[in-house]
Parts: sequence; C-alpha cells; structure tokens
Amino acid sequence: MKLTIRKTKKGDIEKYVIPIEKFNMKNYDSSIAIEEIKNDFLEDSKKGSVFFLEIEGKTIGFFSFTNNEKKSSLHINNMQIDKDYQGKGFGKEILDLIEIEAKKLKCSKITLSVFKTNRAIKLYTKFGFKENTNKSDDKVARMEKEIEL
Ligand SMILES: CC(C)(COP(=O)(O)OP(=O)(O)OC[C@H]1O[C@@H](n2cnc3c(N)ncnc32)[C@H](O)[C@@H]1OP(=O)(O)O)[C@@H](O)C(=O)NCCC(=O)NCCS
Repeated sequence: MKLTIRKTKKGDIEKYVIPIEKFNMKNYDSSIAIEEIKNDFLEDSKKGSVFFLEIEGKTIGFFSFTNNEKKSSLHINNMQIDKDYQGKGFGKEILDLIEIEAKKLKCSKITLSVFKTNRAIKLYTKFGFKENTNKSDDKVARMEKEIEL
C-alpha cells in the first residue's frame, strides 16, 4: 500500500480530523471535545504545516509540524492515523518525511509531546527520540531527537 500526502481540502475537519482524533484520543483524554480538536487543528494550520495521508485515494490520517526558526527546531504538533490503518508502518513513514523536512530546514532537533501511557512512545524511541525528563509533567512526556546536519 503506497502512502501519498496532500494538503488540506475543504471539509477535511468534519470528515476526517474530528472523527479520527476523537476516536484515537479517547483512551488518553476522555474529555476531549469536538471544539477543542477543531480549534487545535486550525491553530496548527495557522502556525505550521498540515498534511493528510492517502492510500489509493482514501484519506487515512493527518499530521502537522511547526518550524521554530528561533531555536532551529521542528515541533511535531500531531500525528493521527485511522484505527484500521495503525500498526502498518505509516507512522514510521511520517517520521521519515518529517526528518527529511527538518534537514531541509536545517533544524538540529525534532521535538514532540506525548501522553506517557501512549504506545506511540515506543515508536518514537525506536526512531531515536529521547525523553527530556526535566521538562516533563505527570501525564505528558516531552521528547526530542537530535538531527545530524
Ligand atoms: C501513533 C501513530 C501515529 C503511529 O502510527 P502507526 O502507523 O500506527 O505506527 P507504525 O506502524 O509505523 O509503528 C508501529 C509502532 O507504533 C506504536 N504504536 C502506537 N500506537 C499504535 C497503535 N494504535 N497500533 C499499532 N502500533 C502503535 C507501537 O510502538 C508500534 O510498534 P510495535 O508494534 O512494535 O509495538 C498511530 O498509531 C496513531 O494514530 N495512534 C493514535 C493517535 C496517537 O496516539 N497519536 C500520537 C499523538 S503524540
């Protein structure tokens, strides 16, 4: 299954962002509201880049990142894949794409925040992210990966 990426289209929020994220995050944040998902997505779109993932024309998820020029780092705001397509290697493909982008932008590190109970931590660790324990709070781990330029 070949993954392609595309920019945001009209109707994406209602059709994909809200249903995929609401389902995915219910185990970590049971109170997450539709308005919050929508506002976070709009905010991420304003301050950074958002891309949607497609398999044979079917949208299966999205991800977003922000280039923090001052610190020359790239922050992953969100990664969400439809439940039926998780665990098939697409998350790793997204991380590869983000790392290529980070190198292009001459960012020396990639950062992200993730709930400590989220299985995604294993994927990030395998990919080379390390927990930045100093800044971690109870529920959320902050992780970063150094990039060789
Ligand atoms: C996190 C996520 C984007 C990873 O993408 P993916 O395509 O499922 O990941 P991959 O197939 O490339 O890698 C598999 C690894 O991801 C991790 N993983 C995290 N959540 C997973 C899930 N629901 N199903 C399968 N693997 C998952 C595991 O470590 C797994 O490795 P393992 O099989 O050795 O345990 C995707 O699972 C997802 O959308 N999860 C729900 C939303 C979420 O938690 N987003 C991250 C917010 S920081």
